[in-house]
Amino acid sequence: MTTLDRSRIVPFLDAAGADGRRDAALAAHGRVIDGTAAGGTMLGWRRLVLQPDVDLIARVADLAAEITAEADVLLCIGIGGSYLGAQAAIEALTPHFERAGPEVLFAGHHLAPAYHRELLERLVGRRVYVNVISKSGTTLEPALAFRLVRRALDVPPDRIIATTDARRGVLHDMAHDAGYRRFEVPDDVGGRFSVLTPVGLLPIAVAGVDVYALMAGAGAAAGAATHADASHPALAYAADRHALHQAGFATEVLAVIDPRLRGLASWWQQLFGESEGKAGRGLFPATVQYSTDLHSLGQYVQDGARNLVETFVVVDGDEPGPVVEPEERDADGLDYLAGRSMADVNRVAYEATAAAHADGGVPNWTFHMERLDASSLGDAIYMFEHAVAVSAQLLGLDPFDQPGVEAYKRKMFELLGRP
Ligand code: PA5
Repeated sequence: MTTLDRSRIVPFLDAAGADGRRDAALAAHGRVIDGTAAGGTMLGWRRLVLQPDVDLIARVADLAAEITAEADVLLCIGIGGSYLGAQAAIEALTPHFERAGPEVLFAGHHLAPAYHRELLERLVGRRVYVNVISKSGTTLEPALAFRLVRRALDVPPDRIIATTDARRGVLHDMAHDAGYRRFEVPDDVGGRFSVLTPVGLLPIAVAGVDVYALMAGAGAAAGAATHADASHPALAYAADRHALHQAGFATEVLAVIDPRLRGLASWWQQLFGESEGKAGRGLFPATVQYSTDLHSLGQYVQDGARNLVETFVVVDGDEPGPVVEPEERDADGLDYLAGRSMADVNRVAYEATAAAHADGGVPNWTFHMERLDASSLGDAIYMFEHAVAVSAQLLGLDPFDQPGVEAYKRKMFELLGRP
């Protein structure tokens, strides 16, 4: 289970005279459990891991096996919650450099011209399956990328999988008319909560990740949360961050110390940013990867405006990696590290950073994942989903809508002359 170390938060709460908001968090948690939370019709992310649809997961796994056997590339077309979860799991659980099986590529998550030209060039002559993912079925970025791909490549309809609403939307209708294969995004699951539906599970399975273990980890976390008290990591985190927000802190920096967790950080950023950044409220969610960014944003975190809180995510049971060996002449002066593993040095760097940032006025928590495997990742995903559902309610917000996203769309469509 993902655990939470609050030792570098408590002194700040005490100093600010901040009420821990534990009772309010527990009450908000109760509303998530009994379905009376704000946006209570959108709690399907909890249902689907507590009562997983095993037939559906088997269908996903079967199609993933087919794609693995038949394709060189799975192209996933989607934006926001329709790709960030898959990217997070694939980055976390597959090797950095070489992976067996089809390449999993993403498109439709921005509008950059060179990327889409290069992507189309890369796909020519390769065996491609396309998974176009859009709950609404109308989002411009993926819709446009899908059109580009349809025009440039001759992908047979049975190699196109549309993951979309069960009943409506342009993509739903196109899939129906053209005979694409289909998966449904459940009505009661919003985009950023959809990683454990076919939205995320199909690409994740094609990348070779054990989706059964991912679901089992999330399911166990959801089960454990059912009878949680205020010390549960999701509740304690939600209560603390609310108290700190009330005390004037404005930005939350999620810090990972392993590039494999970069994608999880981006997923977290969307989850909290879209769920809480409303009505003039919410901590601004930023992300860093240490120690890389200690030579960049680390300066600001240590010494800039004092309105930051920081959330570390570390993996306890990771592989040691290479061990530093002694050298006869010690020309680089690193013999003091002889016998220590990269995991050990990285861990010390994290501990030093967390302590220095606290000394510099940045309250920080650490989430500890037991391992970096599918089950632990499922656990962490559920924990953050539960945390944001509680946390947004403490702000008096519906966690499951995103009205602000419409403003740019309206202006963009006006400028583009959409009828
Ligand atoms: O969390 C959300 O609901 C959003 O980020 C959506 O996932 C994103 O806007 C993409 O929407 P759609 O899947 O409808 O294309």
